[in-house]
Amino acid sequence: MATMESLIGLVNRIQRACTVLGDHGGEGMSLWEALPSVAVVGGQSSGKSSVLESVVGRDFLPRGSGIVTRRPLVLQLHKIEGGKSEYAEFLHAPKKRFTDFVVNLTLIDLPGLTKVAVEGQPESIVEDIENMVRTYVEKPNCIILAISPANQDIATSDAIKLAREVDPSGERTFGVLTKLDLMDKGTNATDVLEGRAYRLQHPWVGIVNRSQADINKNVDMIAARRKEREYFETSPEYGHLASKMGAEYLAKLLSKHLETVIRQRIPSIIALINKTIDELNAELDRIGRPIAVDSGAQLYTILELCRAFDRVFKEHLD
Ligand code: GDP
Ligand code: MG
Ligand code: NA
Repeated sequence: MATMESLIGLVNRIQRACTVLGDHGGEGMSLWEALPSVAVVGGQSSGKSSVLESVVGRDFLPRGSGIVTRRPLVLQLHKIEGGKSEYAEFLHAPKKRFTDFVVNLTLIDLPGLTKVAVEGQPESIVEDIENMVRTYVEKPNCIILAISPANQDIATSDAIKLAREVDPSGERTFGVLTKLDLMDKGTNATDVLEGRAYRLQHPWVGIVNRSQADINKNVDMIAARRKEREYFETSPEYGHLASKMGAEYLAKLLSKHLETVIRQRIPSIIALINKTIDELNAELDRIGRPIAVDSGAQLYTILELCRAFDRVFKEHLD
């Protein structure tokens, strides 16, 4: 199974290939745009930012009670040359600009869905937020992390409602149940986690994020993940599910899914690359092999890049 890191590396190469081919031919961009993005959807304070961070394994988002993401936060994961994977906050992007840049694996922290307008907000706010969130999650290439807190009835989950609306088959929706540690004593979420209460295409994943007290104490990601693992392993209710719970497992599920989606794109990318190689060869035969830095040299460089990408993709397919 590919790790998140090797996937980020692969997505990086595809991006570069598409950018180069886009410069050359113009078809590259559309292929790139078809690659997946990952968005978290859910009510306010349901744990969206916490889940996104925990899946990536880094702290990088505004998070905590009273901290509200008002605009979609579009994040870019990229691999530093020759180094380990890194992330970068790409842009606090209003939606109109979303489509006109090319990024690596894209993560989107969406504003929380609300039920009522609070003091000082226009009445239309509830619908405005929902519509804005919808424009992201309705894209067929958007993988949805539908976040529902376990201390609220799943039947009232806005995340599930919206995910079901835009992805009825459920093939790109992952149900995430947060705040398992905050449920009323004597209740548990096995009905949801085992798929009896609300069945999804992909299995539900239960999560225990850092509490507000943990955030205040600056509990780091490593400690948070350890605490979460211990929670499931020692839980009388969820012990039997422990290997399929938690942020690390969710990251694995997501990597596997991303890999499947990306693999589906690879043949068409290879076809495009091969077509470009043929065109470039023909062009170079016509103008002769370059000896100096001119347009011929540029074409030659592109050709070399294409060959390299082709090798990389084939290796990844084996
Ligand atoms: P967002 O508004 O949906 O992005 O939610 P945040 O990730 O900012 O979390 C909101 C608040 O809920 C913060 O105080 C978190 O510490 C807390 N929180 C989120 N998930 C959990 C959880 O699984 N358990 C506990 N105890 N607190 C959580
Ligand atoms: Mg948030
Ligand atoms: Na918050």
